[in-house]
Amino acid sequence: MCGIVGYIGGQAATPILIDGLTQLEYRGYDSAGIAVLGPSGARRVRSVGRVRDLEAALPKRLAGKAGIGHTRWATHGAPSEANAHPQADGAERIFVVHNGIIDNARSLREALQADGVQLTSDTDTEAIAHLVAAAEEDTLEQAVLATVGRLTGTFALAVMDTEHPDRIVVARNGSPLILGVGDHEMFVASDVSAVVRHTSQVVHLDDGECATVTAGGFHLFTAEAETVGRSATTVEMTAAELELGNHEHFMLKEILEQPQSLERMLTGRLDDRFATARLDGLNLDPQAMRRFKRVKILGCGSAYYMGQLGASVIEELARIPADAEPASEFRYRNPIIEPDTLYVAVSQSGETADTAFAVQEVKRKGGTIVGLVNVVGSTIAREVDGGLYLHAGPEVSVASTKANTHMAVGFVLMALALGRVRDLSITDGARIVRALKELPRQIGEIVADGAKIAEAAQLLAQAPSLFFIGRVRGYPTAREGAQKFKEISYRHAEAYQTSELKHGPLALISPELPTVAVIPDDELLDRNIGALHEISARGGDIVAITHDTVEVDTRLKITVPKSEPELDPILLMIPTQLLAYHAALALGENIDKPRNLAKSVTVE
Ligand code: G6P
Repeated sequence: MCGIVGYIGGQAATPILIDGLTQLEYRGYDSAGIAVLGPSGARRVRSVGRVRDLEAALPKRLAGKAGIGHTRWATHGAPSEANAHPQADGAERIFVVHNGIIDNARSLREALQADGVQLTSDTDTEAIAHLVAAAEEDTLEQAVLATVGRLTGTFALAVMDTEHPDRIVVARNGSPLILGVGDHEMFVASDVSAVVRHTSQVVHLDDGECATVTAGGFHLFTAEAETVGRSATTVEMTAAELELGNHEHFMLKEILEQPQSLERMLTGRLDDRFATARLDGLNLDPQAMRRFKRVKILGCGSAYYMGQLGASVIEELARIPADAEPASEFRYRNPIIEPDTLYVAVSQSGETADTAFAVQEVKRKGGTIVGLVNVVGSTIAREVDGGLYLHAGPEVSVASTKANTHMAVGFVLMALALGRVRDLSITDGARIVRALKELPRQIGEIVADGAKIAEAAQLLAQAPSLFFIGRVRGYPTAREGAQKFKEISYRHAEAYQTSELKHGPLALISPELPTVAVIPDDELLDRNIGALHEISARGGDIVAITHDTVEVDTRLKITVPKSEPELDPILLMIPTQLLAYHAALALGENIDKPRNLAKSVTVE
């Protein structure tokens, strides 16, 4: 979704802004723009389409050592040059870039129009520029504070004033914003990836905070104009991790990275002596862990499916009733928050608005919520009572792969820790610890041998519609497989419990509708095979994702190494990532940036 970048210092601002916007492209957007403050005043350039279209529209000389830029995901008004940011007041004195949604935009716009202001866009952001320009306060900071006091909704703002060219003033409420601290230069961004090429020192703003950013540093303050003391922290991410390297797509790069990234995630977290997981970040001692009678997992999209997988592992290993719910639904149904339920928010970005609001809902009602989050220092990571960082490294492809695998493994660690303070025996704990240690190597084996999977993907890509089926442990894997497939190949893919086929979906089975069947070699094998016979009998092609030991008579059989039954769904998921990738590749789709989707959905 929308991205913000800002720069002030000794270098030319334009290339830094363009580079920052390029780094933010993965979030999804439909138009982009920059405004640069130079010796001869401010200059603004905006364009519909990609950042490279904006770059092509730039004049030869766009000098200036301060500027702000934006990638926009249309909310108020269609994608158009007039609606792209930066927005400005009529005199082009104040320039504003904004992420989030201003709920009272309509009344603010009407009030401005009643005062004779000519609005040139349909955006909520334009109102902000006019309000700052019209504010009678002495300083830009005071004008911004007075303006944000009139806004309801969510925002991350960066404001530039031609009358105060030495500063950018920023404000945050509900949308992420960070400052990058350089050597006699400062950066502003909605996401660390826009600044890591320049600095590893970042400051995260909290909701309700503002900052003045100058070439010499920053001053953080609250809505009441009280100074906030906060120093920069060092980010782990490196610029190299955001490069494609020798890969054609980030999605493939991220799939192939999984053995190493998982190895890193597990380091120091497995305790051989007590056959458990060390998760100090959860901030839960054994007594606290024993107190919970239920686990409720909240996430969106793939994170929700991984939550389902996690709930199943937690029930199996810890024998605590557990379930997952889309955070987007949970927040709106006035949920009952129970004191003896452990709530878990799961998110790659840590910025998904629906998940962040669900966290706030749990906290407001006094519940305990921990996070499984990838992005360090993100909104959700900072709001939860404790958590477990996924350490997957940056994920650029919109279709999440390695972060999903890390989520699943994170839930196994959590299940192990919860189980070992309850009835999970040391023998069973040791069995899971051993299996976890093997996972990176086993995933390495699957991704190293993608030929069979690519062949299956070619077959599936021909079909306009397909099923993914799995049951009990295998069902979340099937759901995530279908999600990935439809996200990037634009083929209709639907997941069903294998057991439910005969209760309806079987009516659709025909030679035109193939099925991807997730079939672990477990106690349900015979029943799964029975369902495959029913599909074959109706002429449906089957691609089985299974184990070597399973004998199935299907069009194609993709096998994965065997783990423990509780972990098998994780390994069975890896081929579904590659299936989606190769199908989209065969169909010539834009794999890393699928249409209509954003990597991080920071608005409702
Ligand atoms: C968006 C993305 C999905 C992702 C979901 C949750 O909808 O398009 O791919 O699974 O957000 O994202 P999160 O960052 O919270 O894991």
